[in-house]
Amino acid sequence: MDKLIITGGIRLDGEIRISGAKNSALPILAATLLADGPVTVANLPHLHDITTMIELFGRMGIEPVIDEKLAVEIDPRTIKTLIAPYELVKTMRASILVLGPMVARFGEAEVALPGGCAIGSRPVDLHIRGLEAMGAKIDVEAGYIKAKAPEGGLRGAHFFFDTVSVTGTENIMMAAALANGRSVLQNAAREPEVVDLANFLIAMGAKIQGAGTDTITIDGVKRLGSAHYKVMPDRIETGTYLVAAAATGGRVKLKDTDPTILEAVLDKLREAGAEITSGDDWIELNMHGKRPKAVNLRTAPYPAFPTDMQAQFVSLNAIAEGTGAVIETVFENRFMHVYEMVRMGAQILVEGNTAVVTGAAQLKGAPVMATDLRASASLVIAALVAEGDTLIDRIYHIDRGYECIEEKLQQLGAKIRRVPG
Ligand code: UD1
Repeated sequence: MDKLIITGGIRLDGEIRISGAKNSALPILAATLLADGPVTVANLPHLHDITTMIELFGRMGIEPVIDEKLAVEIDPRTIKTLIAPYELVKTMRASILVLGPMVARFGEAEVALPGGCAIGSRPVDLHIRGLEAMGAKIDVEAGYIKAKAPEGGLRGAHFFFDTVSVTGTENIMMAAALANGRSVLQNAAREPEVVDLANFLIAMGAKIQGAGTDTITIDGVKRLGSAHYKVMPDRIETGTYLVAAAATGGRVKLKDTDPTILEAVLDKLREAGAEITSGDDWIELNMHGKRPKAVNLRTAPYPAFPTDMQAQFVSLNAIAEGTGAVIETVFENRFMHVYEMVRMGAQILVEGNTAVVTGAAQLKGAPVMATDLRASASLVIAALVAEGDTLIDRIYHIDRGYECIEEKLQQLGAKIRRVPG
């Protein structure tokens, strides 16, 4: 297993490019299954999760063609089997995103039921209930969700999400795009990635209104056609590099991103003392060598503060001036990083869903272990500010969601290297 060794204490300074959004690319790739011709998706990030989705397509008999710029052309008409096997689903929960498109387009699907994961139980009941509301018959048998569309195809339905679910909204929106009649999704997720997926579906000919609000109306169409689409920038990667620069008292300019999709994060960074400037497709953060001030925050569905940025802000608070309370409301067990940071000298008290972080003047490098994707990013940030060397184990979690993290950080002046193991 590869490890990262980071020598901390260097103020980040420089410019890097932000990759395409993982959480947008995954549903968009799944949505290509709805098309009745070849579809091209550009600006895919070079990540392990994307490779897993492409491998899943390969297992189903679809051979995506990837060009040197990582645009992928997919022709779903070559599909042979409608099964997403457990060995792939267990490595990536987002594989569940193929369920809605397969039932809508091919009338049936078998997708392994994702298990629990490091950050909580993460059920998929809403995905299942949403499809049932559209007339699908679903059995959960031997660890698989077996779904069948009714005679004549899925029917449009009114569906209320009792919990806001990002991939749940995406799955049902994709299925509704090819259903008979109108669907109305209430208490839908408003995340920018849901909007990006809706725009992609619209580019294929879908009729969708209200994406980005909590009510999405979809008028099913008979067929969805070819399209060429560019995935939006990754707001979590953007936020992670901004926090990394802020924690080190440094400066970073991020290109090919979008300042309008992470306002809650930018607000918290300003509160921490960062100077932030931006243009249409770039953001620059400058701490002018200052130590950040601790901030209080509470995660919640978009447009509130994203749970995927919580761990990184725990790191920021861990070396900030003062004390900050971090409240996690989306996932029940998302503080695993805290215990690793404590090994580096962080002063953090966890009580239920709240972490109270009192900034230490200095963290000390230590061997630590990445437990999930965003937790690993927070350990990288802690390591960048710590005195001495930090060895981060299990970094396959990082490779699931951060493209070329060591090259990008090296470009900003960090001392970071990967040790193959
Ligand atoms: C997506 C993101 C993930 C992010 C999360 C919350 C992708 C591929 N992943 O995950 O990075 O952390 O949104 O912003 O886009 N829930 C249910 N029943 C369901 C589905 C969800 O109770 O059927 C609950 C979950 O346990 C959780 C909450 O809803 O407590 C939100 O989860 P959800 O938005 O579904 O997360 P994902 O879509 O899996």
